[in-house]
Amino acid sequence: MNTYKICLLPGDGIGPEIIAEGVKVLNAVGAKYDTAFEYADALIGGAAIDVTGEPLPQATLEAARASDAVLLAAVGGPKWDTTDPNAPRPEQGLLGIRKELGLYTNLRPVQIFNALADASTLRPEIVDGVDMMIVRELTGGLYFGRRERFYDEPAAGVDGAPGQRAYDTLEYSEYEIERIARQAFEIARKRRGKVTSVDKANVLETSRLWREIVHRVHDEAYADVQLEDLLVDNTAMQLINRPADFDVVVTENMFGDILSDEAAQITGSLGMLASASLGDGVALYEPSHGSAPDIAGRGIANPLAQILSVEMMLRYSFDMADAADDIRRAVTEVLDEGWRTGDIKDAETPADHVVGTERMGDLVV
Ligand code: NAI
Ligand code: MG
Repeated sequence: MNTYKICLLPGDGIGPEIIAEGVKVLNAVGAKYDTAFEYADALIGGAAIDVTGEPLPQATLEAARASDAVLLAAVGGPKWDTTDPNAPRPEQGLLGIRKELGLYTNLRPVQIFNALADASTLRPEIVDGVDMMIVRELTGGLYFGRRERFYDEPAAGVDGAPGQRAYDTLEYSEYEIERIARQAFEIARKRRGKVTSVDKANVLETSRLWREIVHRVHDEAYADVQLEDLLVDNTAMQLINRPADFDVVVTENMFGDILSDEAAQITGSLGMLASASLGDGVALYEPSHGSAPDIAGRGIANPLAQILSVEMMLRYSFDMADAADDIRRAVTEVLDEGWRTGDIKDAETPADHVVGTERMGDLVV
């Protein structure tokens, strides 16, 4: 029997409620596939600040490093909002653990469950069949480059008045591009075998390097995967024009930040979107939404994004594709049968099909 150690980070708000449903589903998978999941609970975010004074205690990092995968719910809430720049903040726990675990790949699947196609602002025939994976580089590029703000006195005879000036630098190394490209091609092999690499190679030198390296990696080791290049501005249009055509979309940090939020809106339901952050070691899985403090403690949160992050864990950390497919099928069936939490119900949902967090987890199990 296989045994996997999972570090659980419930965090704040609805976190403890939804992570319990993720665990319920994992246990059902374990029973079916003769696999043991062992859990270690640890503190992160506001919950950690309350107990230890810091958002990412050393013990939490150690628990994460000692595990085979990390399942996180969400952090934050008004209780820890502060104007004091020196006070600890819950999201420092999240940024900190991503950095400490070297999670350079962020995966955001964008999938339409046909039962929820009405939730999209796009026409049903456009969103029909949407199933893409955005692969965003997470630890390089503009967000981590050299930056400065300074007072500038223009040289004599040059246009412009004295004033403040600032710059950020966009930098990528061959090494950083190569490792994210490999991740994208590996993922495409487990999906429909197509990668769209997004850049701005007509303007940016980093993008020209990006394109060159992505093609080299492709030709050397992944020639079986279909590769296309698309400029980022065109991608922004095509994502809402023909979203069902995309399989894997790989791009640098800032382009990925913007495009993944755009793509998330194609589905129209935040409570359904999972994400994964991968590096070379332990990976971290979490819903895309936050801690929903407005509904915390009431047992009404939608646990499906958390459950779908468990699906990703099985697929990417444990190579249990059949079990992952089971979860996807179960969620699809539950939705097809008309079961809804409050956030995804509509005017046609019968009152006896509106369910709470625990019941939704039970239905999936
Ligand atoms: P949010 O995603 O927590 O909530 C936005 C809206 O969606 C709320 O009305 C909420 O009730 C609803 N919602 C979210 N998840 C839901 C679910 N599973 N079921 C039903 N309804 C759901 O974002 P918001 O309100 O901007 O932030 C709340 C707190 O969460 C803040 O402290 C923020 O910093 C934190 N946050 C944490 C994230 C994380 O841990 N990765 C990501 C985003 C926000
Ligand atoms: Mg963003």
